[in-house]
Amino acid sequence: MKVLSGKRIVLGVTGSIAAYKSVELASTLTKSGALVDTILTEAASKLISPLSFSAVTGRRAYLDSNLWQQEEHVLHVELGERNQAFLIAPATANTIAKLAHGLADNLLTLAALASRTNIAVAPAMDGGMYSHPATQENLAVLGSRGVLIWGPGTGHLASGLSGKGRLLEPGDLVGHLRQLLGKDGPLQGKKVVVTAGGTEEPIDPVRVLSNRSSGKQGYALAQAVLDAGGEVVLISAPTCLKPPVGATLIQVRTASEMARAVLAETEGADLLIMAAAVADFRPQTRSEQKIKKDEGGQTLALERTDDILQLVAARKKEQSCGPRIVIGFAAETEDLLANARIKLESKDLDLIAANDVSRSDAGIGVDQNQVTLLWKDGRIKDLELMPKSGIAEALIREAAELLV
Ligand code: CTP
Repeated sequence: MKVLSGKRIVLGVTGSIAAYKSVELASTLTKSGALVDTILTEAASKLISPLSFSAVTGRRAYLDSNLWQQEEHVLHVELGERNQAFLIAPATANTIAKLAHGLADNLLTLAALASRTNIAVAPAMDGGMYSHPATQENLAVLGSRGVLIWGPGTGHLASGLSGKGRLLEPGDLVGHLRQLLGKDGPLQGKKVVVTAGGTEEPIDPVRVLSNRSSGKQGYALAQAVLDAGGEVVLISAPTCLKPPVGATLIQVRTASEMARAVLAETEGADLLIMAAAVADFRPQTRSEQKIKKDEGGQTLALERTDDILQLVAARKKEQSCGPRIVIGFAAETEDLLANARIKLESKDLDLIAANDVSRSDAGIGVDQNQVTLLWKDGRIKDLELMPKSGIAEALIREAAELLV
């Protein structure tokens, strides 16, 4: 996660039982290269030790007592000023109320008041406290001042009740931070459409024709777009993956549903990246009822689906509308570069990522990938074998260059 690398993040932790989840959040951020300074309120320190945080961050975790130590008399100013993000997670109703009224009676609220960056709060409390007019008004005040409010989620609460008030999961908070820290990136103001997953063509109500695509490369690309400050619409065939925080997800099943969504979403878009494995054929007929084994024949009659990239190219040519830059993938098991170049030309692409899908350590279904990039102008570049997130970051860097 390059977007988090080297970033100074102040993590405020207040007295909600969800405070234990913040250790995982601090750990994930640290593993991604962020420098996390934790401030615990007194109530938080009753639930969790500052040691838990310093152990995972390798940095100090502060308590109110640090405020009054001689050598750290401007600690709150230092913590408030020298950060790129200031997140309070979990944020209790009490701390939210203090922030709304500008109270500064502990190290966390002092540092928050001194902070030059936008503060984000992730509320966590019982449903009744969350829906109380006082809390709602306080949140509205914070929102009107530009404080970012992430969550809360809905579900099981520590009180045993179910409702709105759960701290967002650490992974979601990381997603919000990525979007926040990436917002001034090279794709700022750009609309990007990414497709992902393998489409499904129904045979009958329970059977489909599909492929082994996991969608991982497309989802990683959507995340990389957000990290680079872009707006992303993720058009996804069925996958088991969670869309990145901040992506607009459009779920589709078939190639023709994907084609419709791509044409609609790319009309005013800057960039289209077709990472989906789109079915080239679909059954000629779809049975309304489940086909019984005694009545099913041994031959399935198929017909061609539309080539989505060719539809996009044709519209661009005829109506001069559509994405400025188009990037495709070529899934090949032989003659990788020659076949990729044919696709680059026939689909009128600006760039194609050629993927040798016969490898077992890269490509379809696995976490790693290895691609060769081929540009319209003849340039060619091999990317080494790396996680799909790394491939996505590299591809997005190249895409940003094309958009300049
Ligand atoms: N693609 C598309 N519409 C299709 C099939 C593929 O837009 N009906 C896109 C893919 O998303 C990818 C590129 O075209 O970006 C190349 O897809 P690939 O499966 O490698 O090749 P095909 O064009 O399907 O050709 P073939 O299966 O013969 O290799």
